[in-house]
Amino acid sequence: MWNLGKFEIKGKVVLAPMAGITSEGYRKYLNTFGVDFAVTEMVSDMGLIYDNDETLSYIKYQKSDVLTGVQLFGSKPENLAKAASKALTINPDIDFFDINMGCPVPKVTKTGAGSALMLNPINCGEIIRAIKNVTDKPVTAKIRLGYNEVNFMEVINELEKAGVDAIAIHARTRKELYAGEPHYDLIKDLRNKMSVPLIVSGNIYTLDDAINALNITGAEAVMVARGGMGNPFLIKQIKTFYETGQRLPNPSFLEQVTFCLALAKSLIEEKGEFGAMRIYRGIAPKFFSGFANAKILRTILATSLTTYQSLVNILEEFKNNLI
Ligand SMILES: Cc1cc2nc3c(=O)[nH]c(=O)nc-3n(C[C@H](O)[C@H](O)[C@H](O)COP(=O)(O)O)c2cc1C
Repeated sequence: MWNLGKFEIKGKVVLAPMAGITSEGYRKYLNTFGVDFAVTEMVSDMGLIYDNDETLSYIKYQKSDVLTGVQLFGSKPENLAKAASKALTINPDIDFFDINMGCPVPKVTKTGAGSALMLNPINCGEIIRAIKNVTDKPVTAKIRLGYNEVNFMEVINELEKAGVDAIAIHARTRKELYAGEPHYDLIKDLRNKMSVPLIVSGNIYTLDDAINALNITGAEAVMVARGGMGNPFLIKQIKTFYETGQRLPNPSFLEQVTFCLALAKSLIEEKGEFGAMRIYRGIAPKFFSGFANAKILRTILATSLTTYQSLVNILEEFKNNLI
């Protein structure tokens, strides 16, 4: 049991924020596998301030049984604070705010936001203070090892001084983007050097990845990101292991078919069939990446998905070995 501000958290697995992926429909389905909390896609502070329709749609989600935080990105404490207050007037059910201090995308970093914030640790602290001044909801930060140089400890110290409620760290620098091995060696025993709960992120694809990351760092929880895309059962494997010590076997092909169809339904409910299937061409093939002889299936899913029925047909055909 650990605390995220006023909330008690029982388990050790949370759903990472992923722009373009962790929408309400995606979270709703993955949450059913036992997520302890989830974070929205990143939301622009200026988009909220200027009432951008798409930005507003990210925060207008229905109350969930699973704690849900809104991830904000921006560079100026006063704008982020304004955006947080406004978000709460639009959706009072937001459970907490997370501040994006890790995004490596140039469109974001050139405005001083995302991972560029790590170049100025004092400003990172100011951002947390400013948001804490306008809300009593917990405020967390998601950082990387550093921008070009590794400086996470300095950033963590400023965040803690400012009263941050928890910190998630992606064990790569900005310049490493999402590639290569994350550097868990650099955050060995990190939790011992900190005063707030720690969540770790980076290549969590299997139960053993999660166990190793938690053992090395002493963190309270792991964040499931790309590893959960096409493998939501990973969340249940991690949850079950830490609750009972039991290692659940990986899902069968037929179980993956069931999960794949269910997530598609949840996305369609949210985005309509056209919008959901466009995104699903990038997600559906991942459900079958661990299966020998499924290469053709993956290619067909990536190129030919148009409707829910087309998904059903493709999976049926493959199940029956007609391809
Ligand atoms: C498509 C995609 C979108 C992402 N969007 C965000 C985001 O909006 N905010 C954020 O803090 N991290 C974002 N991330 C980073 C993930 O939350 C996570 O830290 C990173 O992918 C490392 O974990 P993994 O190696 O297990 O995928 C994104 C990652 C991916 C792959």
